This record gives sequence, structure tokens and C-alpha cells, in this order.
Amino acid sequence: MPSARRIGLFPDTYTIDDRYHISIGGLPIRQLAQEFGTPLYVLDYETLRHRIRSFQQALQDMNPPGQAFYAGKAFLTKAMAGFLEQQHMGLDVVSGGELYTALEGGMNPSRIIFHGNVKTDEEIRFGLLRGVGYFVVDSLAELEAISRIAKEVDKPAPILLRLTPGIEAHTHAFIQTGQFDSKFGFAMQDGIHEVALQRALTLPYLELKGFHAHIGSQIFDEDPFVHNAQRLMEFMHDALERYHYWPEVVDIGGGFGVQYGPDDDPPQVSRILARVNDAMQRMTPHGYAVPTVFIEPGRAIVAEAGVTIYQVGATKTVPGGKRYAAVDGGMGDNIRPALYQASYTAQVDGKNPEDRALYTIAGRYCESGDILVKDIPLPPIEPGDYVVVFGTGAYNFAMASNYNRVPRPAVVLVYNGQASLWVKRESYEDMAHNDLPWQDPEEGLWR
Ligand SMILES: Cc1ncc(COP(=O)(O)O)c(C=O)c1O
Repeated sequence: MPSARRIGLFPDTYTIDDRYHISIGGLPIRQLAQEFGTPLYVLDYETLRHRIRSFQQALQDMNPPGQAFYAGKAFLTKAMAGFLEQQHMGLDVVSGGELYTALEGGMNPSRIIFHGNVKTDEEIRFGLLRGVGYFVVDSLAELEAISRIAKEVDKPAPILLRLTPGIEAHTHAFIQTGQFDSKFGFAMQDGIHEVALQRALTLPYLELKGFHAHIGSQIFDEDPFVHNAQRLMEFMHDALERYHYWPEVVDIGGGFGVQYGPDDDPPQVSRILARVNDAMQRMTPHGYAVPTVFIEPGRAIVAEAGVTIYQVGATKTVPGGKRYAAVDGGMGDNIRPALYQASYTAQVDGKNPEDRALYTIAGRYCESGDILVKDIPLPPIEPGDYVVVFGTGAYNFAMASNYNRVPRPAVVLVYNGQASLWVKRESYEDMAHNDLPWQDPEEGLWR
């Protein structure tokens, strides 16, 4: 029996044996690939649980204890919702579809925050009737709509106002959200946030519980998170002075960075939350309760727990010597490298990682930009090899598409040598399920 050791950037999650076979959750990836097919998303239960517990522990150490609402946009399925419910986690959803998935999966609606910069009347009604814990309101039009629909269904709506605090976190522009020039929320400039506050306090059927600001994603510095909380607290002082309003909740969003590659240095969440806690204590006026801090981590819970297994279809060396290995997935299951130059690490199963040459791992989709990993040192690759791309748990399955009419991969959860199917692989029939056959308009068959 070959011995196994923990490997690479994610030593809690993956092992490699003497013959260089990689395992996750105690299961060889080769076995997973053969049983469930490729490409295959795999999630490690231990890593998910460990991440959730470390957030919960850091929140418990706050006074009053904070609460975590996992950002479902990172990865959400019915099974994930059931798992979150079992872990007593809250959930942030951004659409009726995410809310539906969460409720079908058994999530308690009172622990759900309903986000999104456009919510349709139908979605607002769905959230109100099912009793979501909070709506995060993004615009004046939405304030009016929630007030109107809440009155119609005779259910007061607990709300938070989404503010943009003017904090520019150092991350890719596409995942920055805290700067004033953002499509999200009320900028804390030009007085629009004041108007929103007045309306939130006066429109009927609205219960203003507090404020929210999410400054971006994949943030490595501690300071922006602390500045965000401070900025909200400063505004709350004004609100107290001018409107005698003091909130119960301050939601500082998500965005805690994770490790995708050797240069990434994620921040320590316990330290961030301890500093936020200090700021909240210090800045709460005498005689008022310190608001409860909410956070919305997505990536930091699920990214490193996930891996995608691909099979190599073809290899080639182009003039000039550059080597390509093309795999049976790509931008349809992981759009992030094409969308915002996200970088990943990878390994080849059953090959000595010390024998290395530079490879570019290309996808199978009909776009030159369909490159999963650029110029990565890997052992010699041949068609039929299995390539594992690490850290794909967040925003991969969630952003997957049927581009080129390629069915989406399955998702399995692994734990202690066992695998549980969370999402079945799409079949051609599933993919084309809503397509209707050709009808000749000249025969007057159109509706
Ligand atoms: C409002 C809000 N909360 C939380 C998140 C989750 O961010 P992350 O997955 O980086 O933690 C996002 C991401 O876009 C967001 O927009």
C-alpha cells in the first residue's frame, strides 16, 4: 500500500502517494474520474466544515457575537443549502432562483439575506411571503417597491440599506464594489445615502435594521475591512444625530481573499473581526447597543475545498517550443480565467511533479481565450492523463454555461473515502430540455 503525504498549497485537502496519485477526501482522483466521468467538480467536506467553523469561532469571539451569511453566488445547490442549514449558517441570495434553491434544500428563511441590485416584484413577493430575514436594498426604486409589495401582502419587510463607502480595495476591477463609481448601492457622497435613509425611515411597511457595504472580492489586506466598518459607524453617528436612528446590524459583506497560487497571501479572518469588533465597541455611543456584525463570505468558504478533474484530449508543441495540453472542459465550467484573468495551479495525476516543463492548459471551447492555466511547470503530459485544477470551488459551477452546447459537469462531495453525488452530470436531453422544434412561420404556426 503506497504511503500518502499532504501536498502543495492546500495540504489539508489533498494527498499524493508514492506513485504520484492524487487523492481528495481519501479518494483517488483517478477513481472519481472513472466513476463519475470528467470534467468533474469535487468538493471536500472536511475543508468546507473547517472553513465554516473558523468563521463561526471568530464571530463568537465578538461582542455581541457576529453572524455569517454564506454568499450563495459562489456555489449553491440544494445539497449545499442543506449542509449550510446543518451547520447553522446564514445564507446570502441574489435572485429568486437562489432563494428557491435554498428553500428547496431546507434552509431556514429567517437566516436568509436577499441581495441583488435588481429584484423583480415577483422576487420581492416571493421573499416576503417565504419570510426571508432581511432584504438588502440597493436603490430608491427598490425601497418603493418593497414598501408597496409589503403593504399588499401585509408583511412588514426587514431591510438593510446597501451603501458604497468609497473604499477601493486592491483587487481586479471587475470584483471591486466599494468605490463610489459602482453599479451597487447608495454612494456615501452627494447625499443620496441620506435620501435613502429618510425614505427607509418613513415609507410604510419597512423596518430598517441597519446598513450594509461590501467592498469587493479576493481582498488580502485587513485594513479595508476595518475602514469599511468605521465608515459605516461614522455615518451611523450622523443618522443618530439627525434622525435619532441607531441600527441593530452592520453588515460588512464578504470578499476575504483565498489562495489560488503561491503568491496569494490570504488575511487572517479572526484578526480582521477582532479589529472590527474593537472599532464597533469604541465607536458606539454611550447608552446604545453595539450593533451585531454580519459578514458574507463566499469564496473563503468554498474555493479551496474544490477541485476540477479533467482528462487530457490532445497535446502539441507549437513553433517556438510552447507546449499545450487541451482538456475536455474549459471556459464552460470555469469562466474566471477568461473573465478576469484569474490564475490557478494544476497537477497531473500519476506523474512525478519534479520532472517539469512549461505547459499551457487549454480548454475545449471554440475561443482562443479559452485557456485554463497559462505557462505552468508540469510533468510531461499525454492524451488520457488526468489533470487536476485546484481551488475551483467558488464561482466555477455557479458561472458554468452550455457554451458550444457542452453539458455541465457533475458535482460530488467527498469525505473519508466516500463520495456523494450533489449534482448529476447534464445529459444532452437535459441541456436541450427547453428547446422547442422548428415551426415554419409561413404556415402561420407562430403565436
Ligand atoms: C454583496 C456581496 N456579498 C458577498 C459577496 C461574496 O464575496 P466573496 O465570495 O469574495 O466572499 C459578494 C460577491 O460578489 C457580494 O457582492
